[in-house]
Amino acid sequence: MSPLRVTRTLPEDATDAALRADVLNGLTATPKTLPPKWFYDARGSELFEEITELPEYYPTRAEREILTARSGEIADASGARTLVELGSGSSEKTRLLIDALTALEVYVPVDVSESALTQAGRALVAERPGLTVHALIADFTGQLALPETPGPRLLAFLGGTVGNLLPAERAVFLARIRRLLAPGDALLLGTDLVKDEGVLVRAYDDAAGVTAEFNKNVLAVVDRELDADFDPDAFDHVALWDPEQEWIEMRLRSRVAQTVKVPALDLAVDFAAGEELRTEVSAKFRRDGVSAELAGAGLELTHWWTDSEGRFALSLSVAR
Ligand code: SAH
Ligand code: AVI
Repeated sequence: MSPLRVTRTLPEDATDAALRADVLNGLTATPKTLPPKWFYDARGSELFEEITELPEYYPTRAEREILTARSGEIADASGARTLVELGSGSSEKTRLLIDALTALEVYVPVDVSESALTQAGRALVAERPGLTVHALIADFTGQLALPETPGPRLLAFLGGTVGNLLPAERAVFLARIRRLLAPGDALLLGTDLVKDEGVLVRAYDDAAGVTAEFNKNVLAVVDRELDADFDPDAFDHVALWDPEQEWIEMRLRSRVAQTVKVPALDLAVDFAAGEELRTEVSAKFRRDGVSAELAGAGLELTHWWTDSEGRFALSLSVAR
C-alpha cells in the first residue's frame, strides 16, 4: 500500500446535500442556526490555524503542553499500532503522540476538510517514513467506517472539538465511539475546562479579529456553494458565555434589516436588524461532567491530565 491513501467515505454530492439540508433547516428555524462543520473549507481551515496562534486562544497551547508532558504515558497505556484521529485538521499536535507511540504502524486522520487532510497527510508521510497514513474525508458525527488496521487502536479527539457538539449530539457521538472500540482500544479526549468568563470570551473575540473572520467564513461558504448573497460585512461577530449551559456561543448579528437570497434552495431569508444566527457552541467541561458523559456511553475514564494552569484536560478512557 502507498504510504498515503485518501478515501472519501461520502460522494461529493452527499456533502452538497448535507449542506443544503443544514442551510434550509438552520435558516428557517427560530432562532436561526448553522452547524459549525461548515466553517472548514480551505480558507476556514487556514483561519483556524491562525486562531491557534493568537495570544488569547489558549486551548491549543494548553493541550500541547499536556501532550508534551504525557505522550509517553499515553503511549505506554495504549500500546497502539493504529492511531485514529477525529477532526485532525493540521495534525500539528498529533506529531507528539505519533513520535511517542513506538508500536505505531498506521495513522488514520478523519476530517471534513479535504485541504487540511491532504496537506497534513503529505507532510506526515514525508517526515515519518514507515508510517502509513490512511486519511478519511468523513463527517465524524455520522456512522464511521474505519479501515481494517492492526490493533490496539487509540482513538484521539483533540482540541476540545467534542465541545462543538450539543449535549444530545455528544451522547449519540460517544455511544458510536464506544461501539468502535474493541477490547484493548482506548479513547483520548481533549476537553476545554470551565474558567474565568473574561478569559473565555477573549479567546473567542480576539483583538486582531481573526475569530470574527473565521465566524463570517461560514457565510462565504454558503455564498459559494449555494450561490447565496450573504454580505459578511452586514453581520457582526458575537461571542458570549452562557453560564447555565457552560458554553461559549458564537453568533453573527445582522447589522440591518435585510433579506438574503439562497437561489440553490429557492429560499429568501429575512433578518431583522440585530437578529442573531448561532454558528457554534463551544462547551467547557468539568472533570465530573466528562466522566459522567463517558460513563453514560459505556466508557470508563482511566486517566485525567491537565496543563499546569488547569485550563484544559486530556482524558483516556476504555470500554467498560
Ligand atoms: N484537532 C485539531 C483541529 C481542531 S479544528 C486541533 O486540535 O487543533 C476542528 C477540526 O474538526 C477541523 O479540522 C474541522 O474540519 C474538523 N471537523 C469539524 N466538524 C467535523 C465533522 N462533523 N466531521 C469531521 N471533521 C470535522
Ligand atoms: C475546533 N474547536 C474546538 C474550536 C473551539 O474552540 O471551539 C473552534 C473555534 N471556534 C472559534 N475559535 C475556535
